[in-house]
Amino acid sequence: TLDRPDYVVADIALADFGRKEITIAETEMPGLMAIREEYRSEQPLKGAKITGSLHMTIQTAVLIETLVALGAEVRWATCNIYSTQDHAAAAIAAQGIPVFAIKGESLEEYWEYVDRIFDWGAEEGNTCNLILDDGGDATMFALWGARVEAGEELFTPSNEEEEFFVKILKRRLAQTPGYLTKTVEAIKGVSEETTTGVHRLYDLAKKGKLPFPAINVNDSVTKSKFDNKYGCKESLVDGIRRGTDVMMAGKVAVVCGYGDVGKGSAASLQGAGARVIVTEIDPICALQAAMDGFAVQTLEDVVGTADIFVTTTGNKDVITIDHMRAMKDMAIVGNIGHFDNEIQISALENMKWTEIKPQVDMIEFPGGKRIIMLSKGRLLNLGNATGHPSFVMSASFTNQVLAQIELFKGANKYQNDVYVLPKHLDEKVARLHLEKLGVKLTELTKEQAEYIDVPLAGPFKKDEYRY
Ligand code: NAI
Repeated sequence: TLDRPDYVVADIALADFGRKEITIAETEMPGLMAIREEYRSEQPLKGAKITGSLHMTIQTAVLIETLVALGAEVRWATCNIYSTQDHAAAAIAAQGIPVFAIKGESLEEYWEYVDRIFDWGAEEGNTCNLILDDGGDATMFALWGARVEAGEELFTPSNEEEEFFVKILKRRLAQTPGYLTKTVEAIKGVSEETTTGVHRLYDLAKKGKLPFPAINVNDSVTKSKFDNKYGCKESLVDGIRRGTDVMMAGKVAVVCGYGDVGKGSAASLQGAGARVIVTEIDPICALQAAMDGFAVQTLEDVVGTADIFVTTTGNKDVITIDHMRAMKDMAIVGNIGHFDNEIQISALENMKWTEIKPQVDMIEFPGGKRIIMLSKGRLLNLGNATGHPSFVMSASFTNQVLAQIELFKGANKYQNDVYVLPKHLDEKVARLHLEKLGVKLTELTKEQAEYIDVPLAGPFKKDEYRY
C-alpha cells in the first residue's frame, strides 16, 4: 500500500522512445535472449526478489526484463549519478517495475534511491533475497545497516557522499529498526559486476564480514576480458567526442593504468589517431603496454605536454591537484574507473567552474590556465556517452543472470565467500555470442581431445589459463 508511485524517473513520457531502443538492443544481446528462451518455462527465478544497483541504461533494461522473464521481481537503482539513460528508466517504470534513477540526480537522491530498492515493504517486514550490484554500494548499505544494529559504530563521514550515506542509513535504522538486519539474513547472495566492487567483496570475506555468498561476475573471462576491454575500446572515445568534439588524431593522450580497462582505453585512443602514453605501477602491465607499442612514462614526465588524460586504475589520487596545476591550458581530464576519487576533484572546489553543458565543466586556475573536466571525474563513458554497446553488455549480463540463478537455486553449495562462475558457464556465455558474428567453431576430434587432455565438449582450458 503505497502513497506514491513506486518509481522515480525523469520523465515517464520517454517510455516509448526507451522501448524502441530496447527493441534494437535485444537484437544485439543474443546471450540474454537465448537465456530467456532456455529458462522461460522453468522460471528458475520465481520467488527471487532482486535488489539491483547498476547503471540504468538501455542494456540494463534488457537485463532487468530478462530477470523478470525468468520469474524474478526486481527493484532497481542506478549505481552512478550520471549514468542513467532517462528513456531506459522510463520504459522500465512503464512496465510497472520499480526503478529509481535520474541522469544527474544528486548524491542525496542517490542514497535515497538505494534505500528505496531495499524497501520491499519495510513496514510489513518484507525483504529482498538477492542483490545484483555494480561497485558494491547497495551491498555496503545493507551490510552497514546490519552491522550498526549489531552494535558496531558507524564511520564518521569524510566527504559529501559519505554524509548522505550516513544520513539516509540512519533514517532507515530509525524508521524500521531491525529491518536491514532481517534483510541481510534473508539475502542468499550477491552477484557483483565490476573490479572495484569485487575488491570490496574480497576485503569483506578476508575480514570475515561477508554474511552471504558472492559471485564475482567481473572475473568471468567473458566479462572482464570483453566488457572492460572491448567495451571501453568503443565507449571511451565516444565519451570524449560527445563531451568535447575535440580532434583526436595527433593529440597526445595519457592513459593511467594498463589493466583490462586501460588496455581497451589505450586501444580506443590509438584507434582514433591519438599518440598514446601509458602509466603503470605493475611491471607486467607496463611491459605489456610497451610491447603493444605504447610509450610508458610517469605522469610527472608528461603532464605538462599531453592533451588528454584518462584514469583507468580503480585506485585513488592518481591525478592530483599538483598534476592538474602542471597541465597545459585546455587539457582534457576524465576518468573511466568506477569511482571519482581517481582524480582529486575535491581539491578543485575553490577554482572557478564554468558548466559548458551537463557533465562538461571548464575549471580555471588562479592565473587563468583552464582544464576541461568530464563528468566531474565520474565514469566518463557513461556520463558523457551511453556506456558500452549492447553486444558486449550481453556477455556481461548473461553472466549476471547465470550468477543470480546459481545463488537463488544453489546457495547452499556455497560458503560466505567469493566465487567465480565455473568455466563451462563462461564458455557457454561465449558460445551464445558466436552466431551473431558468423563465427564457425572447429570441433575437436576424440583423438585430439585426448591428446590435449580436455573433454570433447569443454571446458577447453584449465582454470589457470589466462586468455
Ligand atoms: P585492473 O586491475 O585490471 O586494472 C587496473 C590497473 O591500474 C592495474 O594494472 C594496476 O596495476 C594499475 N594501477 C593501479 N594504480 C595505479 C597508479 N597509481 N598509476 C598507474 N596505474 C595504476 O582493473 P580493471 O578491470 O581495468 O578496472 C579498472 C577500473 O575500471 C575499476 O574501478 C573498475 O571497476 C572500472 N570499470 C569501469 C568500466 C566502465 O565502463 N567505465 C568497465 C569495467 C570496469
